[in-house]
Amino acid sequence: MGLEMRLGSPKAYLAAAIGAAVTLFVVSEAMSRSDDKAHDIVTQMTLDEKIRLVHGVMPLPFGPAVTLPADVLPSAGYIEGIPHLGIPALRETDASLGVAYVMGLRHDGATALPSGLASAAGWNPQSTYEAGAMIGREAWRKGFNVLLAGGANLTRDPRNGRNFEYLGEDPLLAGTLAGAAMRGIQAQHVISTLKHFALNNQETGRHDLNVRIEEAAARESDLLAFEIALEAGHPGAVMCSYNRVNGPYACDNDWLLNRVLKTDWHFPGWVMSDWGAVPGIDAALHGLDQQSGEQLDKEIYFGALLKQKAQSDPIWLRRLDDMALRIVYSMQEIGIDAYPPQISAIDFAADAAIAQRVAEEGIVLLSNPRNLLPLAAKAQNIAIIGGHADIGVISGGGSSQVAPPGGPAATIPLGGLTQLEAFFHTALYMPSSPLAAIRSRNPHAHFAYDSGEYVSAAAALAKRSDLVILFATKWMGEGVDAPDLTLPGGQDALIDAVTKANPNTIIVLETGGPVLMPWLNQAGAVLEAWYPGARGGEAIARVLFGDVDAAGHLPMTFPVSEAQLPNREMPGAGLTEGTGFDVSYPEGSNVGYRWFAAQDVKPLFAFGHGLSYTQFRFGGLALARGRKLTASFTVTNTGAREGIAVPQLYLLQAPQGTRQRLVGWERLALKPGESRTVTVAIDQRLLADWSQERHGWSIKPGRYAFALGMSAQMPVGSSSDVILAGRVLPP
Ligand code: GLC
Repeated sequence: MGLEMRLGSPKAYLAAAIGAAVTLFVVSEAMSRSDDKAHDIVTQMTLDEKIRLVHGVMPLPFGPAVTLPADVLPSAGYIEGIPHLGIPALRETDASLGVAYVMGLRHDGATALPSGLASAAGWNPQSTYEAGAMIGREAWRKGFNVLLAGGANLTRDPRNGRNFEYLGEDPLLAGTLAGAAMRGIQAQHVISTLKHFALNNQETGRHDLNVRIEEAAARESDLLAFEIALEAGHPGAVMCSYNRVNGPYACDNDWLLNRVLKTDWHFPGWVMSDWGAVPGIDAALHGLDQQSGEQLDKEIYFGALLKQKAQSDPIWLRRLDDMALRIVYSMQEIGIDAYPPQISAIDFAADAAIAQRVAEEGIVLLSNPRNLLPLAAKAQNIAIIGGHADIGVISGGGSSQVAPPGGPAATIPLGGLTQLEAFFHTALYMPSSPLAAIRSRNPHAHFAYDSGEYVSAAAALAKRSDLVILFATKWMGEGVDAPDLTLPGGQDALIDAVTKANPNTIIVLETGGPVLMPWLNQAGAVLEAWYPGARGGEAIARVLFGDVDAAGHLPMTFPVSEAQLPNREMPGAGLTEGTGFDVSYPEGSNVGYRWFAAQDVKPLFAFGHGLSYTQFRFGGLALARGRKLTASFTVTNTGAREGIAVPQLYLLQAPQGTRQRLVGWERLALKPGESRTVTVAIDQRLLADWSQERHGWSIKPGRYAFALGMSAQMPVGSSSDVILAGRVLPP
């Protein structure tokens, strides 16, 4: 894909000229953009000032010591500014779930959003926008002007340790929500960062793996999520990922960065590397604009070495100009120069309320066969078991880890050989106790708590209780994947014994993705609460008691077993670090539910699944061809309680045959008996194939059949089809 350039040989110069042609095309496009101010500033820069902008350090005690201004606090990144030109230093913090606490090196506390999967399970762009605005505001008030937030990788493999940071398996859902979050962040004059570009879908061997994927498969799935996020969020920066894509590293990938991102998608901002992801100086020619956390790389490529290249070769100088222009352009577009951060007080109560609302909207009622839920406050002897529910709720590990003001309720070390690994592998509990929240909702009942450490004791308590609420946790984190989909630590045996001892047992899952449920038929009800964030306990209680409807819908498929996955074994598992390996995706662009549909396989719980405390009817699906293809349909609350409906519109059949793709959805609050008709516009890329030869989207002429669903497995009656003429859409 990318031009492999080894400058120095004649062949290389030819390749360099070709590569430079692409780069020049990109530079010329970038330079031609209307933003003259950025252009004027860059033309005033000295060579050293341009170099200053394109590489930065990680202000943390890792790698070679670096000297920094006194006001640079422990955080992810720092890039010097150019004060006489009004260019502020870039002060970068992690990340998508709030201002990270950086291995405990920061003690100021921040509001922890629920996991990305919890946000995605809410299917609510407005809430995701508000969540982004909240963490953007906190970052700004802590002195940061770049938030490395905007994770939009598809959850291709449910074992991926970082799925909790992401927004599910569907490109439309993930891209739309990532865009909303980034818009919210940037409205606070803080630059957001779409990441990790691209195809960084597992942690196992993330520095060593090479994803082998056809361009069309990538364009119709992972890249489409990023493309939609870019259009919806206009992030100032994109972070390229550690892995290789079809050979070259993502941060040194001419096809990914110069062709797809900057040429096809017209991305005007800058590409920063992930920390320690720069393989060499040529990455600059292949589209990388900034070396991040430089002390983690083998060399500071974008410092003296780049300066030397720029001094001796006009092609490199033009590239450097474009690198600087892109950074200054984003700074001005988002206003970090005009609205510099002000260290100021944060309303943590108001921010926690936002986190709680996002958590409530994302809690998924998976099963409720005997209508145990919502809880009527009549049970007198209630047992709360497991999950450290007496102290709080679990969260995911790694660079995105947030710790609340006043510190965590508990941190449980999970082990690691290095300081960084040990930090990443820590289970941090937010001080929001489900037990306390449930107790406050039902003060007259008698409560007992059992840690679940001894199955016999837990089962005995369950036996003598009216009702049992059992919390099960599965920690996941950056740098490591789950070896399988089981609940760890003997929790399945615990659940089996407790549900046998008392069928009135509600299971509340706090997990970083799908888990297997061998005990499902014994459970009185099952809720997926994900990592529910700063006020997760309160959110869980409110859904349990029906103060709010169970409104969540799965953003990713829960398989019956790993045997249903395209890659049954995690690619690269067991290889020693540094051993390169290929990862191929048999599913191609059929990620998640698309794969289950193509294979005609039934999962444990389908993408889009989520029960409500009321009932809905969907009907009257009608498609209309106009300037855009639209679909309208009616949703009615046929139950006795107010509830939230999330009707999903799927393409089911295309001229190519069975092809399930989410093409639209709505989220509606409806009172009993209330009906509403909604119209959704269908993004035609979702009906198309990526055409290699035309280098664009191609819609095959013929019949396209659609259906409404309460999940990917539940088309509810109303279906409709339309005959489309063939057409080619521009890239
Ligand atoms: C990491 C992560 C990235 C994070 C960066 C800075 O290794 O991959 O998401 O923003 O380093 O901490």
